Amino acid sequence: MANNLSATPLLAASGVCKSFGGIQAVNNAEIQVTQGSITGLIGPNGAGKTTLFNLLSNFIRPDKGKVVFDGEPIHHLQSHKIAQQGLVRTFQVARALSRLSVLENMLLAAQKQTGEKFWAVQLQPHVVAREEKELRDKAMFLLESVGLAHKAQDYAGGLSGGQRKLLEIGRALMTDPKLILLDEPAAGVNPTLIREICDRIVAWNKDGMTFLIIEHNMDVIMSLCDRVWVLAEGQNLAVGSPEEIQTNSQVLEAYLGTS
Ligand SMILES: Nc1ncnc2c1ncn2[C@@H]1O[C@H](COP(=O)(O)OP(=O)(O)OP(=O)(O)O)[C@@H](O)[C@H]1O
Ligand SMILES: [Mg+2]
Repeated sequence: MANNLSATPLLAASGVCKSFGGIQAVNNAEIQVTQGSITGLIGPNGAGKTTLFNLLSNFIRPDKGKVVFDGEPIHHLQSHKIAQQGLVRTFQVARALSRLSVLENMLLAAQKQTGEKFWAVQLQPHVVAREEKELRDKAMFLLESVGLAHKAQDYAGGLSGGQRKLLEIGRALMTDPKLILLDEPAAGVNPTLIREICDRIVAWNKDGMTFLIIEHNMDVIMSLCDRVWVLAEGQNLAVGSPEEIQTNSQVLEAYLGTS
């Protein structure tokens, strides 16, 4: 866990609301992620966690609410602009392109706009060639760090569920983010690979990367997180250290479904 956490949150969302028809999926929710932290977001199935991720990254537009990232309001920006500002997310169901190689998936994550690239190739082919080599080197370095270098030339479709999760994280890292939102990185992953993913998250965090992690695996949350936010039925239920959350009776009730 990182020390020297600064006071101003890297990400702060407040009053965030989203309903789908009659379902209030996220209801006046708030969350803050401190720079340098590994922050957890937990809650029972259907609590609104993924929807909140979608709202933070503007994959769906909030009905209401404010999201400030790195000192700038971002809730009005398109999601690719938000990613350019350094906030990237992975998906609960990994989204790698099966018929491309693992390396190609990595390169695509960092690709510039086609039009921009077209003109660059015409005008400065040597610069483009050098940039492409640098990107490939970076992709191979990151594939090494997610333990997938030996799979670089394989189709992404042939990866296991756990390896796809690692590829998602690798793709996120290609964009040099400031904050990565991980939606259930351990779901469907075997215990050995879960430990590897956790070790890598800790190492990246020590290097300065900030994480917000949705996870049902409490061992993962408890071992990684500095602070944990709890959602239930679209609303904030609790926030605290992993130890505080583990012994919070409201949280236990929400999970046991007796509230
Ligand atoms: N696109 C959508 N259209 C309609 N309802 C939706 C949509 N997305 C989410 N919901 C509903 O919003 C609520 C919150 O769903 P969400 O996926 O955010 O929960 P979650 O906390 O991520 O759950 P899980 O832990 O199972 O992944 C649920 O009732 C879900 O059915
Ligand atoms: Mg979800």
